[in-house]
Amino acid sequence: MTAPTPLIAGNWKMNGTAASLAEAKAVADGVGGSAARVAICPPATLIAQMNWQLKGTPVLVGGQDCHAEASGAFTGDVAAEQLADAGAKLVILGHSERRAGHRETDVLVAAKTLAALRAGLEPIVCVGETLAEREAGKALAVVTGQVRGSLPAELAGKAFAVAYEPVWAIGTGLTPTTPQIEEVHRAIRATLTEMFGAEGAAPPILYGGSVKPGNAAEILHAAEVGGALVGGASLKADDFLGIIRAL
Ligand code: 13P
Repeated sequence: MTAPTPLIAGNWKMNGTAASLAEAKAVADGVGGSAARVAICPPATLIAQMNWQLKGTPVLVGGQDCHAEASGAFTGDVAAEQLADAGAKLVILGHSERRAGHRETDVLVAAKTLAALRAGLEPIVCVGETLAEREAGKALAVVTGQVRGSLPAELAGKAFAVAYEPVWAIGTGLTPTTPQIEEVHRAIRATLTEMFGAEGAAPPILYGGSVKPGNAAEILHAAEVGGALVGGASLKADDFLGIIRAL
């Protein structure tokens, strides 16, 4: 089977206002010729505007989370259908900042992943160990357990991605060594194959956590790395383009 098409997605987290849309435009202007699919996941408040602005460009727009239900009395939440209505094509789910800050479990992440499929969104499901878990030698067990628990069987044959984001590498400037990244990505691929058979070869496995223009080439060319999920360095077009061009 051919390698999955790489996906490089920017996660703006809770950053950005309308003034930041110029950065997204600059990414779209500079992205031509990339072998990767490129996406930006801004805060929900900017999805519709960004979608209009990027129409006709290859850059996709995504959400950062969704509720499991399609509608209802869930103050402050956003449904997958609403993200799609605003122009999102993808959605990040199970980010460690949601698992830790909003007590999201694998079961909830799996329910949200089903919601994304229901709405026609491509889920990017995040997994990753804490530093304590890595130091206890549990990184592979934690990550593969999250993959098994967070990915519903209904993903079979659907477009989705898994993002490996070690919690201790997010926003810290620390990154695992290339062999450490490859070890985890291979374990994720083996788990996907266990779960989905031959189709488990199709989803790209992204790496996320302190990806910068300076380390992107080494990370993106590591075995089983099918792209990146980029936080801080996706906020500035020059940095994000530097990462995209490192592929
Ligand atoms: P940083 O790139 O800022 O470390 O964030 C990674 C991340 O959490 C992307 O989802």
